[in-house]
Amino acid sequence: MAKQGSKKKTEKPDAAALDFRSMFQYAPAPESSAHVQLASQYELFINGKWEKPLKGEYFETRNPANEQVLARIAMAGKEDVDRAVTAARNAYEQTWSKISAKERAKYIYRIARLIQERAREFAVIESLDGGKPIRESRDMDVPLAANHFFYYAGWADKLDYAFPGKKPHSLGVAGQIIPWNFPLLMAAWKIAPALATGNTVVLKPAETTPLTALKLAELIKDAGLPDGVVNIITGAGATGAALVNHPDINKIAFTGSTEVGKIIQKAVAGTGKKITLELGGKAANIIFEDAPIDQAVEGVINGIFFNQGHVCCAGSRLFVQESVADKVIRKLKDRMESLIVGDPLDKNTDIGAINSKEQLNKIKQYLKIGVNEGAEMYQPACAIPAKGFFCKPTLFLHTSQSHRIVQEEIFGPVLAIQTFRTVEEVIEKANNTPYGLSAGVWTDKGSKIFNLTTKLKAGVVWANTYNKFDPTSPFGGYKESGYGREGGLHGLQPYLKFEA
Ligand code: NAI
Ligand code: MG
Repeated sequence: MAKQGSKKKTEKPDAAALDFRSMFQYAPAPESSAHVQLASQYELFINGKWEKPLKGEYFETRNPANEQVLARIAMAGKEDVDRAVTAARNAYEQTWSKISAKERAKYIYRIARLIQERAREFAVIESLDGGKPIRESRDMDVPLAANHFFYYAGWADKLDYAFPGKKPHSLGVAGQIIPWNFPLLMAAWKIAPALATGNTVVLKPAETTPLTALKLAELIKDAGLPDGVVNIITGAGATGAALVNHPDINKIAFTGSTEVGKIIQKAVAGTGKKITLELGGKAANIIFEDAPIDQAVEGVINGIFFNQGHVCCAGSRLFVQESVADKVIRKLKDRMESLIVGDPLDKNTDIGAINSKEQLNKIKQYLKIGVNEGAEMYQPACAIPAKGFFCKPTLFLHTSQSHRIVQEEIFGPVLAIQTFRTVEEVIEKANNTPYGLSAGVWTDKGSKIFNLTTKLKAGVVWANTYNKFDPTSPFGGYKESGYGREGGLHGLQPYLKFEA
């Protein structure tokens, strides 16, 4: 095949893999962004109005796939945080705590409906600002965000039934800080239960992905929510810290790094503020010899490469039973050869852009650490765009429990593989981590599943599937993965006090 082409063409060492790729190449299928309306500058959403930051400071948010600036974003200072908290307090006292629960539900339903109506716009902006493939933002982030508002709207007027005999009451003002991996979805996870339980909100999105939260603010305005019930302020760590330390906040909800989670925990200790933390993870995906191997391989690929591995519950450690290890590894490598890394807006793309240069550097650092630790690194022959922040999907073979790439959260498309012989051995290895957010088990035997789900120290254990989310099921971790649950009935509790 290669010989028929121009003589100048040089054969690459991985020509076989490239041939395989060219046989199955898709024509580009980019989603249009022509319908998306972005302002060149965004202000702070305080008390139902767009307010300039008092100090007049702004930062830029970029498209990580091409490094272009998308918009200038207001940097909220301490005094802006104070304005937002005051607005939330007034709204709580004057309107939101006074209206009936049924009325509250109507507003929350309206937000859900409007997200559905504007789903395409939200999906495109999510992929532009954060780098995730449009397939994911379209099929997962945005519909799940709408579903969260639908689900919690349903609970708003049924809290007495949710907690019979316990007399649930709202807390007041919730300060919410979210990360960049699921910007709209995390905003929904935070805002929907807070509103349903009768609290008002000040939310701060991450500095690299503020746009869908700001679009959500526009939508909340369109939904006619009373002024000040939801306030959205942008900024970096200092803005988040000012929110955490504000004396008039009743509850802090944080999702992000374990490092910042610990800082927040210390800051809140002794203040009487309620707190939930959703932090990092180093999930184990476990394949037994009796597993449906092709399904398991697909699940592992989805579990770690989905959303570039920017997932706190990413299945970043794989444990394969020794008797099927060669087969699984061969199939994993074959499947990795067919993954498409590139333009997040292209509907064929499997792996989009890494969220920021800092995160890409962190991942590259771990690739070096893995090699230096003696693990064998494998990457497919795929091309990656020259501009923007991209990383090839990566496997590490011959890893051991003491390796840093096995112990530490990388938050990138990097999978560390180990083998095991017995159930007891794999339980011990899987639990040997400071984290405990999620795990996956692949086997044909129901009894093995039940045995493992009770012994794995993880908040969520998926069986013969991975990364499945639903607003009705609680999500959260053990150990350094944080505490408190989001989603489901459990997700209402952190926003309530009880008068039993
Ligand atoms: P981060 O924890 O610094 O950022 C998350 C949010 O917290 C952002 O909105 C940020 O502005 C805010 N924040 C930062 N410092 C704060 C402070 N002192 N007080 C209050 N809020 C503060 O995460 P970062 O730096 O973006 O990512 C670093 C690493 O954290 C990643 O490489 C990854 O390993 C992990 N991470 C985990 C996430 C998860 O969902 N478990 C999400 C994002 C990052
Ligand atoms: Mg951005």
